[in-house]
Order: sequence, then C-alpha cells, then structure tokens
Amino acid sequence: MNYMEVCSLSDLPAQSQKIVTVGSVKVALFHYNNQITAMGNACLHKAGPLGMGNVDFRYGDWYVVCPWHGWEYRIKDGGAPPGSHDQQAMYEVKVEDGKILLSEKPVVKAKRAEHAEKPLLDLEKLMYQTTPDSLNVLGISTTNLNESLPRFSTSENALEKALDYAKTEYGAATRMIKLRDLKFRHCEGFYSQHENACTWPCSISEMDPHDGMNEVYRAMVLWADVLLVASPIRWGNASSLYFKMAERLNCVQNQITLKNRVLIKNKVASFIITGGQDNIQQVAAQLMCFYTDLGFTFPPFSFLGWSRGWTAEDMDRNIAQFQKSKYIDRGVKELVDNCVCLSRQIKEKPVVKMNTPLPKIEEAPGMAEDDYRDEEQMRLDHIS
Ligand code: FES
Repeated sequence: MNYMEVCSLSDLPAQSQKIVTVGSVKVALFHYNNQITAMGNACLHKAGPLGMGNVDFRYGDWYVVCPWHGWEYRIKDGGAPPGSHDQQAMYEVKVEDGKILLSEKPVVKAKRAEHAEKPLLDLEKLMYQTTPDSLNVLGISTTNLNESLPRFSTSENALEKALDYAKTEYGAATRMIKLRDLKFRHCEGFYSQHENACTWPCSISEMDPHDGMNEVYRAMVLWADVLLVASPIRWGNASSLYFKMAERLNCVQNQITLKNRVLIKNKVASFIITGGQDNIQQVAAQLMCFYTDLGFTFPPFSFLGWSRGWTAEDMDRNIAQFQKSKYIDRGVKELVDNCVCLSRQIKEKPVVKMNTPLPKIEEAPGMAEDDYRDEEQMRLDHIS
C-alpha cells in the first residue's frame, strides 16, 4: 500500500478537522479523542462536505454531522449511527516525522445501504398522473383561518365555487388542498449552503416522508392539469402560509437553474385573490412571476380579485357583499372557462422541450478551483 503525505501534524491540532486531497479525491481528516482518522469527504447522500460538518459526541461515540442535511458518520470507522447501515470510505493514517500520511486508496470502501422502502419514488421518477385527456383541477387554499373557530373565507369560498363549476360544467376531477391542514416544515435554506444541497424531491421530504408538502408536490407536479391558488391579502401580499409553501417550491424551480430540468410543463395556473382593502394587482403580479418561473402557463385574465377598496373600513359588510356579488359568481366561472380552454389547447400540442430563459448555474461567473479550496478552508477554520 502506498502512502501520501497530506499535511503536517501541526496543521491538525487536537479537536480539529481538515479537508485534504489524496490524488484527486478529497478526504476529511479528524483529530478527536487523541486519534487521527480519515474518511471520504463526500457524504453518501448528496456529496455534502463532511470535513466541514460539526463533530459531536453522540450514541456513545464521536460523529461528524453532514452540514447539508445532517447524515451522521462515526469518525473512527465511518460507520452510521445505530440502526443504519451506510459505510463511509476510510483511509489508513500514519504519522511519521511530524507529517500525516494517508493510504493512497481507502482501506474500507464506501457503501450506501439499500433502503428497502422508497416512499418518494413517484416524485423521484416523476410518475405523472396526467394524460392527454385528463382534466385534473387542483385548488390550493392558503388562508390560515382557525379551524377551531370556523369563519367565512372569501378566497376559499370563491375557490370552492370554481372547483364545483369545473366539476359540473366540464366533468373535471377536482381536488382541494387546504394548506392549514398540512403539517410541513419551513424551507431550511439548503440552497444557501450549496446548490447541490437543494434536491428534488426536497431534502426535507427525504428526511421526513410524512412532511405535508409531499402532498402539494404530488398534486401540483404529478397530478394537476390546472392549478387554482387562492389567497387572502395580508398587508398587501399573499398570506404567510402561501409564502411558506412557495419557499418549499424552491426545489422545483431550482431543478431548472441547476439541472435544466423543467418538472412542470403543459399546466395552467390562475389565481383568486381577496382582501378587505387593496393590492390585488400587486399580489397577482407576485404570484404570476413565481408560477411562470415554475413552468406554468396562464390564460388571459388569469386572476379573480375581490376587495372593498382602501377607504372601506366596514369589514363587517365585506362577507355579505361578497356573498351576494354577481361578479364573483360570474368571475369564478369565467376564470375556470379560460383555464380549461387553454388546458385543452395545450393538450392538442404539448410542449416537449421547454426553453427556460433563466440564469443557469453553468453560466454563473466562474470561481477557480484554488479559490474554492481557499474558501472551503476558511469556512473550516471558522468551524474549528
Ligand atoms: S449531502 Fe450529506 S446529508 Fe445530504
């Protein structure tokens, strides 16, 4: 076995870690518990840099926690925590004349354990449920009305009317998702760690297959032909619950930026926006900007708005006015008519390859490999 010098012993004081290179492979060195060990730097999950993870005493031993999504590896032998069977590659370490040497090849090979259950396989493989003849209309209600104190929601009521109409007039299959009924985590900013840390399916979904956003991903990406998003106006914007969902849709949009992979094609979206005062147009613009970046297509007149106007501080009359509004009854129908018409047109000639005039990762101003390594070490110094 050949050994390669990778650094001086003084470069790796006790309780520290470092990323070094063996040939063309990055290896994470750890000096904890009076022992120097070396494991493959690329996490078995999505290649997060293990050498930059926090090292902690847990399960009765020292583990490094991947900085991207939290997979854990025992630093003395690369093993997974109790109950898991992943094995990270380990290198042999020698210390000679104040130098650290590593075996040229791993002495323990990496092995990712087979995970029998694949609860996200349909998302992973993009098993679309739409067909050339389907008319699947999905409504997403983003109001956060308190279920224990039922009250009338104008946005949700208009959405219900729209879905009823789609069903009776067009025989559409309809589904309503009430975001408030789903338990889902906020986006945890994996993209901010590294572009490869934001994955499809979402990293949070992988960690927790029961995360409520999986229902949204399945319905929106795999099932729907037409999407209707309904939101109340809150301080001039869509609801906070809407934004919580939108942030978790980063993983759909990032597939375009990172992999030139458009998950949503040949789908139509429109919006229902209701509020006490105003800002309908600003909310509509915000929603349209986001949904076009996901790949949705809009019909003309793609939103229905309702507000009482800036000076109407008589919210006690809002619901009564809404309920007897002929405009709402007509508007929801025409919104659906336009969506169905466009969906049918699209199905006659669906787009196969969708162009995406968005910035792409490979077009970003480049960073030389050495700069990258310096930066990586800087971040590492910050940890240790
Ligand atoms: S890349 Fe390491 S946990 Fe995801």
